[in-house]
Formats: sequence, structure tokens, C-alpha cells
Amino acid sequence: MASVKLSHVFKRFDTKTAVNDISFELGEHEFLVLVGPSGCGKTTTLRMLAGLEQISSGDVYFGSQRMNDIRPRDRKIAMVFQDYAVFPHLTVYENIAYGLRSRHAPSQVIKERVPKAAKTFRIDHLLQRKPRQLSGGERQRVALSRAMVSDANLYLYDEPLANLDAQLRYQAREDIMALHKEKQAPSVYVTHDQSEAMALGDRIAVMHDGKIEQLASGQDLYENPASLFVAYFIGTPTINFFDVEIAVEEGELVALCPAFRVQLPGEMKSRLEVYIGKKVKMGIRPEDIHVPRLAPFTVTEHNQIQGVVNVIEPSSTGCSVYLSTMEDSAQDFVTTLRTRMPVSYIGREVPLAINLLKAHFFDLETERSVLHQ
Ligand SMILES: Nc1ncnc2c1ncn2[C@@H]1O[C@H](COP(=O)(O)OP(=O)(O)O)[C@@H](O)[C@H]1O
Ligand SMILES: [Mg+2]
Repeated sequence: MASVKLSHVFKRFDTKTAVNDISFELGEHEFLVLVGPSGCGKTTTLRMLAGLEQISSGDVYFGSQRMNDIRPRDRKIAMVFQDYAVFPHLTVYENIAYGLRSRHAPSQVIKERVPKAAKTFRIDHLLQRKPRQLSGGERQRVALSRAMVSDANLYLYDEPLANLDAQLRYQAREDIMALHKEKQAPSVYVTHDQSEAMALGDRIAVMHDGKIEQLASGQDLYENPASLFVAYFIGTPTINFFDVEIAVEEGELVALCPAFRVQLPGEMKSRLEVYIGKKVKMGIRPEDIHVPRLAPFTVTEHNQIQGVVNVIEPSSTGCSVYLSTMEDSAQDFVTTLRTRMPVSYIGREVPLAINLLKAHFFDLETERSVLHQ
């Protein structure tokens, strides 16, 4: 049985539908990430799970128990917020112990657990300090320690790392994973940062406008995005989109646009046939466009594109190259190369090849993927 289940959950604030028919199930030890842009309904979903927000319609279950009308404090939930929600007048020790004390835990339990949690998160030398004497990263570890000492059935995180700078964020991700490993309890983690979602989640639910667009592993979201939005939202640099027309020329399926004419793999024919003579959005990941000489895929005369180099951005594995297509109304696109490109290429015209086996196509009306349905 799923440990947590949401079934057709809605949340309406006056005229605004913040959460619009969300359903998902959480495995017993699962770490699920909700990711999406600001305002898409992530916090509202989490608050309904916590019981802090009344559900407009739909049901939430923990195990077989319907939770809709159960008070927050009877849900056995630990929640870590973006602003850490630490009490300024209490010491670090008392902040960590707060939940245990309010549930009248035996003092022996408090004495054991608080120092242990503080040690795990490397704040055991700060136990007598007040929060104002701590850095943001340390305050955040106080909040994580408080979650660690609890015996929650469900762990909820609402952008807990958003206020940390990049270096601390990597460390804190590891801390959160350590906490999850120790607790082995189901967890829902909210972030607007897709790279953080990819780094943390067993599965990731991509939210948009109050709905879940797709719920899958990070790899699946990246390789088989179900919608234009998911394709766009997941991955850095962002996927390239081209408006192409699907046609048949000399018996071959082709995609045409002012910048290129490419021949599509035969296996796509059955899915794309209904689009012949019509326009679709073609999506190509940056690594699926490459300089022909070093391309990790087959280059033919039928998968070429020309571009003018605008910017070259070195990375640990090679570089990202930002280009424009050659026609009058030039379009920008980006490639990631497994090699460095000398800066002397800036302003020059370069031939590139597209790995069409990895091309994505989206219906212009529904914005759903044509190939992965
Ligand atoms: N208490 C509220 N009253 C009215 N509208 C709200 C309230 N809480 C959230 N909203 C609206 O619901 C939408 C989703 O908000 P939220 O769940 O906070 O998004 P996220 O956490 O993904 O940024 C937003 O448009 C927000 O303005
Ligand atoms: Mg939020």
C-alpha cells in the first residue's frame, strides 16, 4: 500500500485555483520532489499534506486513513521551511528540542537525541547559541536537526535551501539525503530549481499552473518529456525549439524550417504521419547538436544545420556554444560540446549536425509530446 496518497485534490482561493486536480502516491521510503516555477501550487500542495490548508475537494490518505479532517498536530509530520522557522529567543538546543518538549517526550529521549542530531549536522559546538548568532547555513541545520529528532511519518520540505549560497547548498543537500537515509520515511521536497530536483528526487513531479505535468524519474523527464513545458523546464542549458513543418519528400519524412531541412528516422513515421503538411514544435537538447567531426552520432547530408557563433561558455566537460541560425529572421540555439571551442570562432559560421534519433516533437495545440504518449 502507498504510504501517502493524494486523490484528485483541488485547492481554490476565491477565484484562483491554486491546485487543480492533483493525484499521486508515495512509496514507503520514497523521496519525491515537486518542482515548478513560482506560483504553480507547490507550497499549497505541501500545506494540504501537512493539514495547514483545508482541501477544497479530493482526498488525502496516509496508509488507509483518510486525513482530510485530521488536525496538523495529529498527523505526525516534520516540516522544514525556507525561512527555517527557528525561534529567536530559544537556544539552538531548545530549538531542536522544541517538538519533543511540546509532545512531552521523556527528558532522557531529549538528552540523547538533541546532541546526536546536532552532531550529524555539525552544529554540536553551537548548542548554547541563539539563532541570531548563527549563519544562514547553520540556522538551516538547526531546522534539519529538529526534523531529525522527531518521529514523523512524513517529512515535508518547502524550499529549505533557497536562502543558501551555492557551496552551502551542495553540503545541505547531502545533509538532507543523510536525514532521509536515517529516517527511511516518505518525504516530499519542494523546489523551483530543476537541477536541485534532479539531484535529490527518486521521482520528480513537474508542476505547472496547479497541475502535475509529468511524474517520473529525472532521467525519464529529461529523455522523454511528456509536454513542451517539461522539455523546457528540465535541463540546462535549456532545450532548443524549432517550428518545423512535417513533410514527405522523395518518399522520406522530413522536417523543414527556414534554418534547415532534415530527414527524420523511419521509426518516427507512424507517430508523425498525421502531422504531414502541418507544423509542430521540434525540440533538440543542446548535446544533441554537435560539430560534425566529433559528433557522438552519425552525420549525414540530411542532419546538418549552420550557425553563427555568438558566445562560448567553457564548462568542466567542454563548453556551451550559443549560436544563431543563418536565415533572415535568425533564431538562437545552443549546443554543448565535449570539447573546447577556441574564442576565435566567435562571429564565424560553423556547420553542425543534429542527432535526430533524440529529437522531440510537440503538438502546437495540446503541447503534448507526439512521440512519447
Ligand atoms: N492564502 C492564499 N490566498 C489566495 N491565493 C493564494 C493563497 N496562497 C497561495 N495563493 C495563490 O495560489 C497560487 C499557488 O501558490 P503557492 O502554492 O504558494 O505556489 P508555489 O509554492 O509553487 O510558488 C499562487 O497564485 C498564489 O498567489
Ligand atoms: Mg512556495
